[in-house]
Amino acid sequence: MKTYVCEGCGHIEFDDPPVSCLVCNSVLEAFEEDAAAINSPANSAELTEAEKKHIPTITVVKECGLIPGGVCTDVHVKVGEIEHVMQDDHYIRYIDYYLDRNFISRVWLSPGVCHPAAALHLNASSGTITAIENCNVHGNWMAEVSL
Ligand SMILES: [Fe+2]
Repeated sequence: MKTYVCEGCGHIEFDDPPVSCLVCNSVLEAFEEDAAAINSPANSAELTEAEKKHIPTITVVKECGLIPGGVCTDVHVKVGEIEHVMQDDHYIRYIDYYLDRNFISRVWLSPGVCHPAAALHLNASSGTITAIENCNVHGNWMAEVSL
C-alpha cells in the first residue's frame, strides 16, 4: 500500500495520488509519496501510553434512525483509547474518513471546545472504514474497521 501526502493540507491518499486534493484542491504535483506518512505502533500487541492516546478507536452504530427510511450507519471516531488532550498547543487538528480506502470526509476540530472525536452518518452498510487523525505535535495515526 502506497501513501501519498498533500503538501497543502496533509491529506493522505492511498495507492495513487488524485488529480487534485479532495480536501484543499491542490493539484496532483502537490502529492508526494511518503511511506512514513502514518505512524504505526512499535508493537501492536503492547501499545505504549503515547500510542493509546493517538490511535483512533472506531465505533459503528448500525441502527441510528437520524435519517429515516433507509440505511444510516454511524461511524464514531474517538482519539484514542486514552483520551487525547485538546489544548491550544497540543490537539487533534482533524479526522479524515475513508470508505474502502477512498476519501469521504474530513472533520476539523478546534482545541478547547471540541472533544477529540467525530461522527459521520453514512449511506453505506458494508465496506472498510479507515480513520486517520492528525495531532499537531505527533502526526498521523490510523485505524480501520469493517462495517
Ligand atoms: Fe499528540
